[in-house]
Amino acid sequence: MYNKLMNCLGSVKEKINFKPEVALILGSGLGDYADEIKIEQTIEYTEIKDFPVSTVKGHKGRFVFGYIEKTPVVIMQGRVHYYEGYQMSDVVLPTRLMGMLGAQKILLTNAAGGVNPSYHPGDFMMITDHITTGVPSPLIGPNLDELGTRFPDMSEVYSKRLQNVIKNCAKDCGIEIQEGVYVQFTGPNYETPAEVRLARSWGGDAVGMSTACEAMAARHMGLEVCGISCITNMAAGISKAELNHKEVQETADRVAKSFKELVTKIIVAI
Ligand code: HPA
Repeated sequence: MYNKLMNCLGSVKEKINFKPEVALILGSGLGDYADEIKIEQTIEYTEIKDFPVSTVKGHKGRFVFGYIEKTPVVIMQGRVHYYEGYQMSDVVLPTRLMGMLGAQKILLTNAAGGVNPSYHPGDFMMITDHITTGVPSPLIGPNLDELGTRFPDMSEVYSKRLQNVIKNCAKDCGIEIQEGVYVQFTGPNYETPAEVRLARSWGGDAVGMSTACEAMAARHMGLEVCGISCITNMAAGISKAELNHKEVQETADRVAKSFKELVTKIIVAI
């Protein structure tokens, strides 16, 4: 795995000489945010040797290097999901790569289903912690000693400092942000109502199919991590309606403008 990472890193470094400060992963509905920044260069995932390539319709697959105001950033426009069939170590390869390119902080975004009954579709939720009991750890396998320790502490995956930054930025934007625990399941199916009740009884506030594994890999290598979910729908059984990807996309699109404004404020402030 380390050799694979080094191959990817070499392949990217042949194409660009750029040291990002902040890494950003864009979730459903936020993808076009990367088109709006001051772009220095883009690299399609398919151009990177050994890189896992996403297959989901509507998920663009490229790194965008550029500036958000004065902050040098690398953005993943399209992520790799476990449900596509990759090993978890491949799912987090791009996250690790962004860290190896020099990013010290990472902002993770996603679309998620609301499990906390006080949430509403269109809410934003700052991730305070996560539960990954439903998916394998991305750190399974030989430890990459070059990146981090075998048994990494996970008592503050989502940096308290960055959580304060997010709260202040949300206030500045006039956004009432929720705070909660993100539960990752494998997908690609949405959860059953019983699984959603399980997530709630575990202390979860939202469910999704990404992000927590990326947060763990980033934390393992010492990055400062933060994350925001866009609650695109109430999770199965909480809402009586059937779930579908179209609804997820429509809610994400509806609130994309304020999500983008918030993301910009956060990147500049961290
Ligand atoms: N479950 C899992 N992932 C999701 C959901 C959901 O309800 N909504 C958006 N992503």
